[in-house]
Amino acid sequence: MIILTDISKSFPTGTVALSDLSLTIEKGEFVFLVGQTGSGKTTLLKLLIREMLPTKGAISVADFDLVKLPKSKIPHFRKKIGIVFQDLRLLMDRTILENVILPLEITGRKIKESVIRAEELLTQVGMIEHRDKFPIQLSGGELQRVAIARALALYPAIILADEPTGNLDSKTAFDIVELLSNINQLGTTVIMATHNLDILKKYPKNRIIELDKGKLVHDKKQEKTNLTVMSGIFKEVQHETHHKSDKESKDSKKTDSHHEKEKGGDK
Ligand SMILES: Nc1ncnc2c1ncn2[C@@H]1O[C@H](COP(=O)(O)OP(=O)(O)OP(=O)(O)O)[C@@H](O)[C@H]1O
Ligand SMILES: [Mg+2]
Repeated sequence: MIILTDISKSFPTGTVALSDLSLTIEKGEFVFLVGQTGSGKTTLLKLLIREMLPTKGAISVADFDLVKLPKSKIPHFRKKIGIVFQDLRLLMDRTILENVILPLEITGRKIKESVIRAEELLTQVGMIEHRDKFPIQLSGGELQRVAIARALALYPAIILADEPTGNLDSKTAFDIVELLSNINQLGTTVIMATHNLDILKKYPKNRIIELDKGKLVHDKKQEKTNLTVMSGIFKEVQHETHHKSDKESKDSKKTDSHHEKEKGGDK
């Protein structure tokens, strides 16, 4: 579980990246984090992995109090979290397999055991045949898969993905989200920052948290169907979903009356 209480984050430049944010994310949720460029999505994800501290407020992630967490305990905490960074951060001088082995190696797993786990992960993300290639030899979508495999290495309770579909074509983007969705269905909490409206529409049941200039402006879980107070991307997705379900119920009525007619015809 993730609990943010009255979080603000300002930078020495004077930029207020997040202000007075309170939020709870339950175990097993799949949350889309949306908002325009500069709205604070990456800053929020960085706070959740204790890459930085908030200026004020409290953060609890997987029962760790991140504000009070001593630096020496950060590596232990990070084992619980899998991260797919906006810039991936793969090591270019290591093969795909070696990149996935890295977190296992760092945490002291035996090499044989690490290779088996890394191969299992690359199979899960559909990249096993590329195991001996270097990152430069792969496409953007393939690299995203490798980054996801690496993030999963230590069986994390939570996966944070910062725009994992950023520069991908729509088919590849959907494949990546489907991969995250499958991981979520196995019980892992997923938080994914995105700008991609088509993805939000494709997963209408997922919670959407929208930031605007560092403030939480919408949270689907709390606001459910009140369309009048919504704006931006959030309103558009809700409209689409409502429209679709209206259409679906009309279509099913049509089918029902068609069946009725058929039944009537039998008489
Ligand atoms: N290290 C930093 N020092 C100063 N300002 C920063 C720093 N990191 C981020 N900011 C500022 O904080 C604000 C939020 O940035 P953030 O990277 O969280 O936005 P974002 O929502 O992830 O944007 P994008 O969609 O472009 O990735 C921006 O105004 C940004 O310029
Ligand atoms: Mg960002």
